[in-house]
Amino acid sequence: MKVDVLLGLQWGDEGKGKIVDVLAPKYDVVARFQGGPNAGHTLEFDGIKHVLHQIPSGIFRPSAKNVIGNGVVLDPIIFKIEIEKLQKYNLKVKDNLFISKKATLIIPTHRLLDQAYEKAKGDNKIGSTLKGIGPSYVDKVSRQGLRVGDILAADFKTRFQKLVNQHFEILKNHDIPYNWAELETQFLDAVSFLKEFKLIDSEYFLNQELKNGSSVLAEGAQGSLLDIDFGSYPFVTSSNTVTAGACTGLGLAPKHIGEVYGIFKAYSTRVGSGPFPTELLDAEGEKMRKEGNEFGSTTGRPRRCGWIDLPALKYSIMINGVSQLLMMKADVLSIFETIKVCTHYQLEDGSVTEIMPYEIVHEKITPIYTELKGWNVPIQGISESNIPVELSHYVDFLEKALQVPITFISTGPDRTQTIHRKTK
Ligand code: GDP
Ligand code: IMO
Ligand code: MG
Repeated sequence: MKVDVLLGLQWGDEGKGKIVDVLAPKYDVVARFQGGPNAGHTLEFDGIKHVLHQIPSGIFRPSAKNVIGNGVVLDPIIFKIEIEKLQKYNLKVKDNLFISKKATLIIPTHRLLDQAYEKAKGDNKIGSTLKGIGPSYVDKVSRQGLRVGDILAADFKTRFQKLVNQHFEILKNHDIPYNWAELETQFLDAVSFLKEFKLIDSEYFLNQELKNGSSVLAEGAQGSLLDIDFGSYPFVTSSNTVTAGACTGLGLAPKHIGEVYGIFKAYSTRVGSGPFPTELLDAEGEKMRKEGNEFGSTTGRPRRCGWIDLPALKYSIMINGVSQLLMMKADVLSIFETIKVCTHYQLEDGSVTEIMPYEIVHEKITPIYTELKGWNVPIQGISESNIPVELSHYVDFLEKALQVPITFISTGPDRTQTIHRKTK
């Protein structure tokens, strides 16, 4: 069988958690391949809303094995809190969750360093979630990081202390308050908790699953426009959020990749700093935020809102090799009589392009819009046969421009509010 990859094509929060949960019954394994607790993936069913940060979104489906891959950065403290929150649902988490020994550990000083570096950036701050993502990936790449498998070593505490001391040296130059005794106790306690789980060589595990005929769904975190290489650098996260990241983050060869599900909102949002060509800084943007309940799942920050951006989506589709598109939150656009679609960018020199400019951070981009008539009726939970004609036109317009079929339309946060377009 193949590994299908599901990932966000915008700046994150496209609705990945909801769709992974919807698709999970079709898969034997769901695996996270990058990112860490900066992610906030929301699932809703039976009137309950769940937000997962590090645990794959297949965890509520008893038939799915869930894997945290080697490409992930894992914070044991947040992991423990997440698992404890799930306890009341009687899930067999200890049986169904597998964690790569090669995943990188986030230790408490990584979070402090994140704060220190953001503070030092002043007005140029990234708007990080401050979960220690950047500093832990830095330690991984500079070959001094600690990995999940290291917690089983007899000298783990010594190795931990060595890394902490290095971080203390840096923190001396920054004014970040902390209570180390408390953080250390909390961390070591969480490490003991983590030891009770299945810590595995996930690359062997996943390749064996494929050999046995299992189907695997790789769950992306963040979005392609936050990718460390292809996003709006430096306003990005610190991992490869694109399809290729699923290969390196799980130890699966490219030949195993099957479908690439590209997920996008019917409009655009971004949380944190960085360029956002179609951002609406007016009452319309405020209306979108309110209707879409656009507040961060991890930090609660208001998300910046704007119209859909086709040059950006085309770029993401190209980099990822997207084979199917999934459009989320179509219901949110019901409030608008007219819907705008950005088809091109006008640059400062007057030229018009649909290429993402290298200088996206400094260039003033003016979006060029096409206007479409809105459907302007409630659509939450409708079936395919009840899709209003204007929504059909919107979908047709996007499919024609993007050259990839839209196979799912999501019309509400609940699992059941999902249209799988049978004709596609
Ligand atoms: P993720 O990070 O990609 O998993 O997305 P988030 O969970 O951070 O943000 C998506 C938000 O939109 C969550 O609050 C979801 O419950 C909600 N959501 C997902 N799909 C839909 C939809 O089709 N309509 C509406 N109104 N909300 C949705
Ligand atoms: P999910 O998986 C939206 C953003 C942050 C910041 C930048 C860097 O829920 O879609 P970091 O914490 O990685 O140092 O932050 O990336 N960011 C996200 N935005 N959704 C996410 O994850 C994000 N994870 C990070 O807001 O701008
Ligand atoms: Mg999110």
